[in-house]
Amino acid sequence: MLRFARFLLIPLLLLAVVVAGLALTSRPITPPVVLSGFGEKPLVIAHRGGRGLWPENSLFAFERASALGVDMLEMDLRLSRDGELVVIHDKKVNRTTEGSGLVADLDLAELQALDAGYRWSADGGESFPYRGQGVRIPTFAEVLQRFPERAKVIEIKVPNVGMEESLCALLDHYRQRDKVIVGSFYDRTLQHFREVCPGVATSAGPTSVRLLVALEWLGLGRLLSPSYQALQIPPASDGITVASPGLLRTARERGLNVQLWTINEQPMMSHLLEMGAQGLITDYPDRALQLLGRSTSISSVSDQ
Ligand code: G3P
Ligand code: CA
Repeated sequence: MLRFARFLLIPLLLLAVVVAGLALTSRPITPPVVLSGFGEKPLVIAHRGGRGLWPENSLFAFERASALGVDMLEMDLRLSRDGELVVIHDKKVNRTTEGSGLVADLDLAELQALDAGYRWSADGGESFPYRGQGVRIPTFAEVLQRFPERAKVIEIKVPNVGMEESLCALLDHYRQRDKVIVGSFYDRTLQHFREVCPGVATSAGPTSVRLLVALEWLGLGRLLSPSYQALQIPPASDGITVASPGLLRTARERGLNVQLWTINEQPMMSHLLEMGAQGLITDYPDRALQLLGRSTSISSVSDQ
């Protein structure tokens, strides 16, 4: 028994030294410039521009969501065959347009000839009010040009195709490094983006989220020194709670802005806000605005 205790002693001492070292050196992250103008109010973030209200990831959606008064626009980036960054969620154009095929197999001109309002319906497919209305797939450059002042959540949807460099170059060209939070479900893509575009705010990749959840379970969340500024998480994943009160508290203490997706019902919005969520990424930004006592009327659609 004594020998066993001795056997454990050295690893335990080493672990204690590592934990103590991390505890002494860990630092919370500084809030990014993109969020500095918002103060403490919860952020309303239009998921794909507010896809419950109008055709997703379109200039039309971003204009309406901006006019509604959302704080941030969320959008998804892919690459066309001829190398343009385009704003579209799916790998294929089939779900949102009248066309078919992979985005990566179509040139920009082919993508922009499609009707991005073709399949949007608010009544389960009885009517399609945006068909033939000129709604199309925008380039990311068009979005930056049209909404220079609006804060944006940008998701890189495709790994290993050089989108990180193109994205950074466009942010530089339009001087909007401080207007975005960049995220991705691909850890290496996100890490590569941080290397090629230092100073731009990013959200935690999947591995960082798992690490934070694990540290929180172990009661060691305070050891974290984040290399990202925002935590964009679902309430639960694969039946496991992600957004626990403890996790949100720890994340906030580490300086992170905690944004929850995709929250469409007001009771859940209230619950998460009470728990400490700082942003709601929602298909129905009107519901979040109403819940927060903010205006839900559309102002001039030329609003930037
Ligand atoms: O921020 C993540 C959120 O956008 C959810 O993912 O599939 O709608 O792009 P998705
Ligand atoms: Ca997204």
